[in-house]
Amino acid sequence: MKKMEVLFKLNGRDVRAEVPSDTLLVDLLRDTLGLKGTKTGCREGECGACTVLLDGNPVNSCILPAFKVAGRSVITIEGLTKEDGRLDPIQEAFIHEGAVQCGFCTPGMIMNAKALLDKDPHPDEAKIREAISGVQCRCTGYRKIVQAVKTAGEATRSAR
Ligand code: FES
Ligand code: FES
Repeated sequence: MKKMEVLFKLNGRDVRAEVPSDTLLVDLLRDTLGLKGTKTGCREGECGACTVLLDGNPVNSCILPAFKVAGRSVITIEGLTKEDGRLDPIQEAFIHEGAVQCGFCTPGMIMNAKALLDKDPHPDEAKIREAISGVQCRCTGYRKIVQAVKTAGEATRSAR
């Protein structure tokens, strides 16, 4: 398989990787770059566990060829934590509201919430449910996740 060089921004830093041309972004992140926070479930674009932000928009990294992120900005769940170890308000809210059980869906939920709150810090419940609709959670029943995103929105607004 032909190898391709991919230069892109990952969590704010320039990254260069050489990968076979059929490598998927999730495998570049997890296997080549060691960022295991992004999960894989269906690997078919259905469950949302692999969600990352591409230029600020949520994408399923299990169906995105890695070479397509060349010259673009990718944010993973690891990129939300501050350099001094402080968590993002969305991560704090998920903990505070008890919105995590097995945790498998949590990175995907948080990345979708991040994309939403960056664009709209005042989302109503319908918008929150729509934003997370591409991520499947088998544990929580979604109610606490929705509450966590509401709480994170309030925290984001009061920090501005
Ligand atoms: S692992 Fe990517 S959508 Fe399920
Ligand atoms: S917390 Fe287990 S899948 Fe959502």
